Amino acid sequence: MSVQGKYTTVASTLHWVVVVLVCALFGLGWFMTDLPPGPDRGFYFATHKSIGISLFVVMIVRLVWRLFNPPPALRLDVPSWKVLLAKNVHLAFYILLFLQPLTGYLSSSFSGYDTSLFGYPLPTWGWKHQVFNDFFSEAHTICSSAILVCIALHIAGVVSHVHKEGILFLNRVKPW
Ligand code: HEM
Ligand code: HEM
Repeated sequence: MSVQGKYTTVASTLHWVVVVLVCALFGLGWFMTDLPPGPDRGFYFATHKSIGISLFVVMIVRLVWRLFNPPPALRLDVPSWKVLLAKNVHLAFYILLFLQPLTGYLSSSFSGYDTSLFGYPLPTWGWKHQVFNDFFSEAHTICSSAILVCIALHIAGVVSHVHKEGILFLNRVKPW
């Protein structure tokens, strides 16, 4: 027997807004770090930081929404290891998508450069300090690798249960 249910439109919209922002942040992150010092590099760094902070705000909204609107229980007729893996990957996303903007903001705060949200100046949490800047940059890079691993597992999971169980969502029978 399966437990049926449905993600709300808000949950689904927030999911896809986060996907678009995360893709944009990876694209910008990889592109901007290869640029030579100059106004272009400054522009792309500022855009990356602004989108990253916006993603942090979206994640707060998403978390609050989820706390008041829990998603439907996962299906019971899917192998339990798949359900466990899916739940842990979802949990890891929630943790990493908060840690990633925080390490970015901290790295930026110890870089000696200002942090702003689309031109609006934000407080700096530190001072120019190379060791701390390197530490948080490294943490930012490690988190981005962990997010990539989760994305790979998540997409493999979705493809696998579409292919093997014939369902898109682990928690409703027919989404269409
Ligand atoms: C979920 C949100 C974010 C994602 C997915 C993301 C992703 C990335 C990626 C892929 C890079 C390229 C190199 C690397 O891995 O270190 C990067 C670099 C960078 N990001 Fe982010 N970022 C996010 C949020 C932020 C925020 C909010 C800030 C600052 C307010 C920020 C500041 C930086 C800086 C300064 C760099 C350049 C070098 C470094 O510190 O690693 N990022 N980011
Ligand atoms: C940046 C990429 C992605 C992130 C960060 C992400 C994150 C998440 C999270 C956190 C959940 C759990 C929602 C909750 O319970 O609150 C989820 C569910 C889901 N995601 Fe993603 N997702 C990404 C990409 C994708 C892609 C590309 C697809 C489609 C191929 C997809 C399809 C789904 C589906 C169908 C669910 C429902 C749960 C399930 O049946 O496994 N996601 N996603």
